[in-house]
Amino acid sequence: MRLYATAATAAVALLAGSVRADAQSVLSEASSSVSSVATEASSAVESATSGTPELPTFTPTTIKADFVEQFTDDWEARWKPSHAKKDTTGSAKEDEEWAYVGEWAVEEPHVFKGMEGDKGLVVKNAAAHHAISAKFPKKIDNKGKTLVVQYEVKLQNGLECGGAYMKLLRDNKALHQDEFSNASPYVVMFGPDKCGSTNKVHLIINHKNPKTGEYEEKHLSTAPAARIVKTTELYTLIIHPNNTAIIKLNGEQVKEANLLEDFSPAFNPPKEIDDPKDSKPDTWVDEARIADPEATKPEDWDEDAPFEIVDEEATMPEDWLENEPLTIPDPEAEKPEDWEDEEDGDWIAPTVPNPKCDEVSGCGKWEKPTIKNPSFKGKWTAPYIDNPAYKGVWAPRKIKNPDYFEDKTPANLEPMGALGFEIWTMQSDILFDNIYIGHSIEDAQKFADETFFEKYPLEQLLELESKPKVDEKKPARSPSDLVFMDDPVHYIREKLDLFFTIAQTDPIQAIKFVPEAAGGLAAVAVTLLAVIIGVVSMSGSTPPPNVKKAAENVKAAATDAKDKVAEAVSSGADSAKAEVNKRTTRSSS
Ligand SMILES: *[C@@H]1O[C@H](CO)[C@@H](O)[C@H](O)[C@H]1NC(C)=O
Repeated sequence: MRLYATAATAAVALLAGSVRADAQSVLSEASSSVSSVATEASSAVESATSGTPELPTFTPTTIKADFVEQFTDDWEARWKPSHAKKDTTGSAKEDEEWAYVGEWAVEEPHVFKGMEGDKGLVVKNAAAHHAISAKFPKKIDNKGKTLVVQYEVKLQNGLECGGAYMKLLRDNKALHQDEFSNASPYVVMFGPDKCGSTNKVHLIINHKNPKTGEYEEKHLSTAPAARIVKTTELYTLIIHPNNTAIIKLNGEQVKEANLLEDFSPAFNPPKEIDDPKDSKPDTWVDEARIADPEATKPEDWDEDAPFEIVDEEATMPEDWLENEPLTIPDPEAEKPEDWEDEEDGDWIAPTVPNPKCDEVSGCGKWEKPTIKNPSFKGKWTAPYIDNPAYKGVWAPRKIKNPDYFEDKTPANLEPMGALGFEIWTMQSDILFDNIYIGHSIEDAQKFADETFFEKYPLEQLLELESKPKVDEKKPARSPSDLVFMDDPVHYIREKLDLFFTIAQTDPIQAIKFVPEAAGGLAAVAVTLLAVIIGVVSMSGSTPPPNVKKAAENVKAAATDAKDKVAEAVSSGADSAKAEVNKRTTRSSS
């Protein structure tokens, strides 16, 4: 791994233009290091393919929370599919009857399985409405407490169009699991939703207007996008009592929002509103500028002077051929053989432009050209001045909003009584697992360490192995045609090779031709190879080393390397540009 850091640092130094002198030796050393690491990685991947790595075995967690669900064998005691009809009242499809016919199963994943015996809740039917819910042992009330909602989503068949979000349902006596539907009141809706180009991790909170008692959905205004992959994705929502909401994907924060500022419509209505009874007075002057009423047309302003006049000083060019016509009969045209003078009339050759005129200034009668009239003024208009009567832009008077209320802590949610998935999807086999709903960020993290972070690196490895291998015998494509996801190891190797080959003779060109290599490709390589080598070395040995730990170390190293590159790029860009300019100037002079 160190070798990659060396490579990245070498690229950095070159960018900054500081080690031009011994760049060549550094580069050739780095290049061969890269080559050998890449070779090692390739053969590691190959040997891993022959022996599938040993998977960790699922063990139920001992972590406690308001609700923890791992879909163990007693899951049916908690979860109940709904047989409700979808409520379409008021919608355009009011006549259509949608029943929740979609089936659910609890089973192991069939795509990139990263843990033995780890079952999840699976949406079984494509293009069907699915609804299922589980009651909480006790209602969950987060007043004054942090709320943590975390769960795994595995899109085993990808996702073109469909939801994979969960709903925390309002606690009320009428909460019948059999009847759970889209009309069941919820408190929080959280999770991915994708259809075509729309891709969001929803965060919607149903908020009660204390004045009217009505509920309104408050949507996170700029929702992050979900990653549509077949490996497990971990979704975490944290709502702090100070109205801060945080969304994490795979443990990394992707969003921090303030409930009072970043939701639409806002939780609280405006204090003042425009007075609907106020209207703009007829006498209101809203013209900011007017034609100066005191200005008069100057005496010498001739409005009738023409725009163009004949240039009296012009003389006929000496080579002008006054006696040559502009067109002549085409000397090459011939009378067609079947032309009958008596019937068709006299044959006349078609005319062509006179070739003699092409070689001189012109032919035919010469006339003086016209030029722009220097004394042309056009129509006089008064200059514009600031309007002394201008009153500014009119706006209605503000009055107190009669519907105003202020909820200073929308983070205090309504009590929640159950959790449900109520979704429609075009792709079946979405798998949900490892649900945590409670109040401890640390416990949720620990839970993720036991579950998600144990299987995720293995799922990634399996995904990598499933990619088509590059056939060594086939002629290699040009490195610039390579697509990263086709074969990441090959991609990185080729790109870095190309970079170092060019860099040995001309570092600036190398950066221009292989920007990926300079711009942090090394960092990507480090992460990827770490995962591969970490997992591969694990597969044979006992006891299995901690893959997650290794991945973390390497990730930190990669981030560090990437930052260094970024820093050097910004400081080195100017000197690089100057260098390129110098070259351009030199070669053109
Ligand atoms: C809100 O509270 C959390 C947890 O105490 C804290 O980490 C965060 O910085 C706070 N945010 C703001 C904006 O005060």
